[in-house]
Amino acid sequence: MTVASNIKVTPLPPTDGRSFGAIVTGVDLNKLNDIEFQHLRAALYEYTVIVVKDQAACTPAAQYALTNRFDPASTSYGHGKTLDTKKSILHPDLKTIPHQPQVQVIGNGHLDSFEGLTDIKLKHPHHATFHATRIPAEEDEHFTRFYRWHIDAALYDLNPPRATTLMAVRVPEGRTQTLRYDDGTGDELTVPLGTTAFVSGYTMYDILSDDDKAFARTTKVEYAPHPYVWMSSARSRSTGLGLVSEGKELSLDQLPPVDESKIQVLPMVWKNPVTGRLALQVHPSAVRKLHLADGTVMDELREVRDIVYLLQRPGIAPELVYAHDWEEGDMVIFNNHGCLHSVVGAFKEDEVRVFRQCNLAASAAPLGA
Ligand SMILES: [Fe+2]
Repeated sequence: MTVASNIKVTPLPPTDGRSFGAIVTGVDLNKLNDIEFQHLRAALYEYTVIVVKDQAACTPAAQYALTNRFDPASTSYGHGKTLDTKKSILHPDLKTIPHQPQVQVIGNGHLDSFEGLTDIKLKHPHHATFHATRIPAEEDEHFTRFYRWHIDAALYDLNPPRATTLMAVRVPEGRTQTLRYDDGTGDELTVPLGTTAFVSGYTMYDILSDDDKAFARTTKVEYAPHPYVWMSSARSRSTGLGLVSEGKELSLDQLPPVDESKIQVLPMVWKNPVTGRLALQVHPSAVRKLHLADGTVMDELREVRDIVYLLQRPGIAPELVYAHDWEEGDMVIFNNHGCLHSVVGAFKEDEVRVFRQCNLAASAAPLGA
């Protein structure tokens, strides 16, 4: 028996410095066969972010099955039970689909019903709720920022998920906004409203100096316990790339009980399991300490953040950002061990946007250098 495959993978045209991302057509994710999945997996590890077009009919069950196929030994949702903690900064942004609890609904606006949820109100996060400074409200319609650069990961107890699947169910009429970095560089970028922005961790590593590469390869990052609760009062830099240091993090006695064995210490550089390329992969706002090659543990938070920022900031330069222009039915799959991503944009209350997202705590820790 031959299994026909019409799957087509088209790399995105490289712009100045960016060389990642691909468009995939000719596949139905509700009926994905093994050959097609192998094509998808190869494309994911080659291009880091792949956009599978025309999947409006994809069911939550098929989305979970697809996500699980990248790591069949994984079972739990990527954030485990952390969303139950009301204090977590992730809590207001995600709603769970009752009949497929590994799949979350995110978006903006009011929905009478969706996948068994009724009368739900979604809210697209706005940078003003998280950044230390904000774009003046009267400029909101035309200007925006990266909300929060991150890896999808609990970063406590559970391993960072290998792949995230993110599907556009409903997308409001398109307009563009100007994204400002507001960090004194004058950097800005024209983006589609409500884009998801991606940068390659491989490029972020490749453009470092040789000394910085050696530092990154040999340094480990310790994340805060219950990081999304720990950082809940702290505020972000204007680039969305990590936090400003004002001593606002919660102290240990303000956190849920901490099991020391569940604190995550991960390599700063993660290896692509297929290509062997190295990616600089640090969740910038959850960083707590750095463990250096000589055994030194740096725990002065401001210094730790400044080091990570200097390493990561070149990798989010405007020409390195892929800002996906969402169309309904797009299923984006990204290699969560090889990129950072950020929500972008400011919606009005009546602009309805619905997305489904799934990621699963990995069955093993990321590979180091
Ligand atoms: Fe995310």
